Amino acid sequence: MHMEHLELEHLGFPADVIPLQYQALLLSDDRRMEAFAGAIAHTVQPGSRVLDLGCGTGVLSFFAARQGATVTAIEREPRVFATARAALRAAVGDAVTVVHADARDYLPEEPVDVVLCEMLHVGLLRERQIEVINSFKRRYLRHIGGPLPRFVPEACVQAAQPVEQDFTYFGYTVPAPVFQLPENLQPRTVEAAPPQVFQQFFYTDPLPHDCVGDLTFVAERPAVVNAVRVITKNLLSLLYEPPGSVDWTMNYLVVPMREPVEVLPGDEVRIRFDYCPGDEITVLADSLTASVPAHAH
Ligand SMILES: C[S@@+](CC[C@H](N)C(=O)[O-])C[C@H]1O[C@@H](n2cnc3c(N)ncnc32)[C@H](O)[C@@H]1O
Repeated sequence: MHMEHLELEHLGFPADVIPLQYQALLLSDDRRMEAFAGAIAHTVQPGSRVLDLGCGTGVLSFFAARQGATVTAIEREPRVFATARAALRAAVGDAVTVVHADARDYLPEEPVDVVLCEMLHVGLLRERQIEVINSFKRRYLRHIGGPLPRFVPEACVQAAQPVEQDFTYFGYTVPAPVFQLPENLQPRTVEAAPPQVFQQFFYTDPLPHDCVGDLTFVAERPAVVNAVRVITKNLLSLLYEPPGSVDWTMNYLVVPMREPVEVLPGDEVRIRFDYCPGDEITVLADSLTASVPAHAH
């Protein structure tokens, strides 16, 4: 089973609960793990005080403890919490304190240097990353004061792209959302135009209340635009010398639209959608429209 083919929402779990039997999928996602290990190695110093919100099995806390940090890790799901506590004790002794709590309520008593938070889903859909970090920032500034800690991820860039997606399987057509590994060739997808950014923000800045796209693309090839591909890149750690970043691009999400439009090279195609962070994919899908304003044929 691979995350490209298996997403939790299809298995009947609320998006923000990741039961133990699915945590290994996160642990065996090498691109994700390498990116977080690299970012934490850059951001966390010996002696850093680190808070890990939604720690899951505790792997990010483990990376931080390995850097010499003192870590507090928060997890809400009871069995996952117990597993993290045992695994972290075996791996790093008492360097990590694991707390069974809701990250939306938990606040440390002392200032922290770094907050790790991976409650992410492509599109910022379904999971509670924005809500949790907003709540943390508001309460931290009120009760502990500034400056805010450094966040991992530090920033997010989201893009969208009009595509023609082949939704026909063994002769049977089902326009259902598709997840794609960014590094794979996608023979079922024709890219009508290159992606465009519709949102970018730093976690220390005010966070978005909604995710709105109103983008006009110029078609590069003939296509029946019947879906939009959503691309979410998390800038886990910004590097200054030399400049750069440790990035994690999540699996793409291809969302079918109700009314496809046909384009020829040079045609403009306008794509619009509007949803809130944490919404179900259906909210994005229901808001999604494409139009060809100056159809030449
Ligand atoms: C996507 S997983 C990531 C786990 C871990 N940080 C990792 O990188 O492997 C998000 C975790 O946050 C937990 N979680 C979700 N909402 C939470 C909340 N409000 N408070 C605490 N934990 C939460 C989930 O149960 C899940 O284990």
